[in-house]
Amino acid sequence: LISRAFRHQFIIPDWSGFTKHIEDFYWKCKTNSEGKVASYIPQLARMNPDYWGVSVCTIDGQRFSIGDTSIPFTLQSCSKPLTYAIALDRLGQEVVHQYVGQEPSGRNFNELVLDYNKKPHNPMINAGAILVCSLLKSLIKPEMTLAEKFDFTMNYFKKLAGGENLGFNNAIFLSEREAADRNYALGFYMREHNCYPDKSNLKEILDFYFQCCSMEANCDTMAVVAATLANGGICPITEEKVLKPDSVRDVLSLMHSCGMYDYSGQFAFKVGIPAKSGVSGSLLVVIPNVMGICTWSPPLDPLGNSCRGVQFCQELVSEFNFHRY
Ligand code: DON
Repeated sequence: LISRAFRHQFIIPDWSGFTKHIEDFYWKCKTNSEGKVASYIPQLARMNPDYWGVSVCTIDGQRFSIGDTSIPFTLQSCSKPLTYAIALDRLGQEVVHQYVGQEPSGRNFNELVLDYNKKPHNPMINAGAILVCSLLKSLIKPEMTLAEKFDFTMNYFKKLAGGENLGFNNAIFLSEREAADRNYALGFYMREHNCYPDKSNLKEILDFYFQCCSMEANCDTMAVVAATLANGGICPITEEKVLKPDSVRDVLSLMHSCGMYDYSGQFAFKVGIPAKSGVSGSLLVVIPNVMGICTWSPPLDPLGNSCRGVQFCQELVSEFNFHRY
């Protein structure tokens, strides 16, 4: 038992059979053959649709994994709550929300639309995340070069992940940038409406956004990130205080209402826990004060969420009382 504890594995021998249940849900979801792998860039289109992994990390650092949990994937939109968290932590809620709203957009994640104040609706959709990148670039240590800002951001991501494997996929970054007509359109549209604190560096802001999407990690690592959010900003592995609790509260609030694309309302209703999905098939799930979970499976439903990931969450709350209400 003690050696398991040192290896951060589950030591509660039968925590209501919790890990057994996770395994059962895993096998149940494995047979789900719905959805299509993202095809807008070749590197994602080549992903094996059978990949399926689930990792759990509790707020006291106990770990459990099943399936393809050590294969890296790009964070894509799962980077959005993280960049938003850094912005909140460094600039405070008031400054950040002068530039970006808190409302679900009710539209696709990349739709060319701003809210009635001419702000992007929220930081979990592309427009909002591009705007958050501009805040990181222009308002936090603006003297930093883009290279320095990349390191700064990656270091934050690493701290959230307890120092575990986190990399960068250059091929995906280059492809993202090539296939980014809509993100460029969003970038220019927001510049037209004076959304940015500094509009002189749009090209850099977009490159920075593509870089954040192209950060790479596996399920095990991202479960630690989710657990840091579940633990009020203190990483359960290193015990380092990475984020202020207020920043984490704001991130989780918007993950709850806006984290699952245009399925966010239904997900909040049926599953009732904050989550964020990404186009590579990852899903970050946060059960506040209990644990973080990451699931990864590339096939996506028509709204862009991982089919197996969503099914897993539904199975989870049908068995355990994790729905916030
Ligand atoms: O901006 C894009 O299109 C992708 N790199 C990120 C897409 C994604 O995961 C969808 N997000 N909400």
